[in-house]
Amino acid sequence: MKKYIFTSLLFVLIFTSCNKSNISSTEERLDQRVDSVIKLMTLEEKIGQMVLYTSDWDVTGPTLKSGYLDDIRSGNCGNIFNAHTAKYTRKLQKIAVEESRLGIPLLFGYDVIHGHKTIFPISLGESASWDMVAIEKSARVSAIEAAASGINWTFAPMCDISVEPRWGRVSEGAGEDPYLGSLIAVARVHGFQGNDLSDSLSILACVKHFAAYGAPLAGRDYNTVDMSKRVFLDTYLPPYKAAIDAGAMSVMSSFNELDGIPASGSKYLLTDLLRTELGFKGFVVTDYTSINEMVNHGIVANEVDAGLLAIKAGVDMDMQGEVYFKYLKNQVNEGLLDVKLIDESVRRILKVKFMLDLFDDPYKYCNEEREKRLVYAPEHLEAALDVAKKSMVLLKNENNVLPLQKGEKIVVIGELAASTRDLLGSWKAAGDWDFMKSTIDEIKLYNGESNVIYTEGCKKMGEDRSGFPAAIALARRADKIVMVIGEDWEWSGEAASRTSIKIPGVQTELLEKLKTLNKPVIVVLMNGRPLDLSKESTLADAILEAWYPGTMGGKAITQVLFGDYNPSGKLTMTFPRTLGQVPIFYYEKNTGRPLYLENPKYKSRYIDCPNDPLYPFGFGLSYSTFVYSDIKLSTSELTENGNLEASVNVTNTGGVDGEEVVQCYIRDLVGSVTRPVKELKGFEKIYLKAGESKVITFKITPDMLAFHRLDMTYGTEPGDFKLFIGGNSRDVKETNFALSVQ
Ligand code: GLC
Repeated sequence: MKKYIFTSLLFVLIFTSCNKSNISSTEERLDQRVDSVIKLMTLEEKIGQMVLYTSDWDVTGPTLKSGYLDDIRSGNCGNIFNAHTAKYTRKLQKIAVEESRLGIPLLFGYDVIHGHKTIFPISLGESASWDMVAIEKSARVSAIEAAASGINWTFAPMCDISVEPRWGRVSEGAGEDPYLGSLIAVARVHGFQGNDLSDSLSILACVKHFAAYGAPLAGRDYNTVDMSKRVFLDTYLPPYKAAIDAGAMSVMSSFNELDGIPASGSKYLLTDLLRTELGFKGFVVTDYTSINEMVNHGIVANEVDAGLLAIKAGVDMDMQGEVYFKYLKNQVNEGLLDVKLIDESVRRILKVKFMLDLFDDPYKYCNEEREKRLVYAPEHLEAALDVAKKSMVLLKNENNVLPLQKGEKIVVIGELAASTRDLLGSWKAAGDWDFMKSTIDEIKLYNGESNVIYTEGCKKMGEDRSGFPAAIALARRADKIVMVIGEDWEWSGEAASRTSIKIPGVQTELLEKLKTLNKPVIVVLMNGRPLDLSKESTLADAILEAWYPGTMGGKAITQVLFGDYNPSGKLTMTFPRTLGQVPIFYYEKNTGRPLYLENPKYKSRYIDCPNDPLYPFGFGLSYSTFVYSDIKLSTSELTENGNLEASVNVTNTGGVDGEEVVQCYIRDLVGSVTRPVKELKGFEKIYLKAGESKVITFKITPDMLAFHRLDMTYGTEPGDFKLFIGGNSRDVKETNFALSVQ
């Protein structure tokens, strides 16, 4: 019997794939192939395709379900995550394809967020490169290594805008800005999916976490999200939309509620907005057990109702919750659920499996020889080094204490300097660290053992000060002091919110003591969120934000410290002076009482702290200096079908060649609703030789000025605008123009 069924599915697949005569388009042929499989499926098998279970190879959520092998064999589970290697996925795929009744191949999902084996900087770090080519390359290499290791689906890009440094998952995103976040989302989708999902080195992208997961109250993970629809549509939605427009074929519904409805039960989010308005054609998978969690949310009384709410909202696949598996069949048989809804979900999932070419070649991702050849390939490690260097942000460099000179006597202090695991950050997927070189290893290699002394000084957390005396004694003998401090890698990422964003433990206390030696002190930061560096910024002569820079992070830090690479990164999230300023972001509103320093009373301000952040969005220094001049407009009148060009002259006045991210912002002075004081509308990362000048031009068109107006329609309004160009969101040249409508 089994053989007969398998043969009939095979026949159907061959017939539909070869019978191209009467099928006009790829889309139609795809639909026909999907329908031909659905016709053979039982209700249980259909529901099986809507089930996603974790293997026991990795833990990315609450308690594990066991026994998934039998579920695959019985057709009750059509998708697995957290399983990898060509060998293991082949074993599971073989069960699905050769032992289940219909042989429908499995999807293999994994959190390949910033690398699979070769790990790139955490996403927040990568975003600070403002380099879309580098970011796409990172996603491409991640896809190639994941695909070589049996994975055909990544749960990335994370597109959650956030202005909440208390929230540990800012480490996984692209910062606070919708325009930059959208470009980065596109680069990552292109990197993961390539030009053709059927390519054996492409993997399915997954836009997450839909939606607005990055705005949890009080920065506490999984907490309530509540915002105006206009803020949601103008600020939080754009990166998700951009990723979908870029062709991402899966979306993950988020844990949080939005406007009182958990995302996995929100018909507005998953059907009306995602499918009807945005035209999304792929499938929706929930986040980990988020259907079950709707009972805790209090939107349903039990899991039976949760499953019904989810499928009617537009959820196609249940991650790890077993709700669909347990209840959908009875709900269909009891007439509570129209089987058409199940058919629609199964159709979307099978369509993606066909697009991945899994039916024609289910073992295409299970090639052990290819895995051995591609994982940790030298060119991949090179790419990781390149992106890591480009992600680093120079926050301070008093008296040009950096770059270090080869041969200088350096003492390196801090537990993080000797750590390799911390270099990978959270969501390291299958990345190994036992073979990696730490930062101190690389500095010694570069500068010679005899010129470098290392001592831990203190731990990255805790109150143990016993290492202080040795650190101070060794520092006395050095020309310069390098302290590598920050957060443990587990202090950001999922379920890692903090009520303080200061550097943990006694690291800063040791920095204070080292500062009394009156030697140059360079701080290298390893962290997954904006930190309150108000004290460190007064103590350190130089501060290099290195994030968690990945497999090649130690070498990247070394090459930046010694000037082999001139740092070019710019912050994509505001660094506050204190947590008390949060939420703080550059696109704030002016308010009715904006602070003008000449008369601060009765103005929107604090009595104990300036309003401005320590380091603003877009900020980053270089070993060079860049001077902006001659901001000009091609016209001061922008008509509704016209455009204008804004240009500025940038000169590298420093002694070294370097890169600069030239940023263009606008302000709509009067709107039918109040408008932000600045909005990023363009940027260009340029390379200037020492002494070189270049005129950079930005083209401004009316569509760039659109927003959700008073009546919630999306469009522009005539009036006056300011235009700013500079090397960050604070230090800018400005000019004016008007938008007119005939
Ligand atoms: C986690 C995360 C999500 C991840 C998923 C699978 O809970 O929220 O980002 O993709 O589970 O590991």
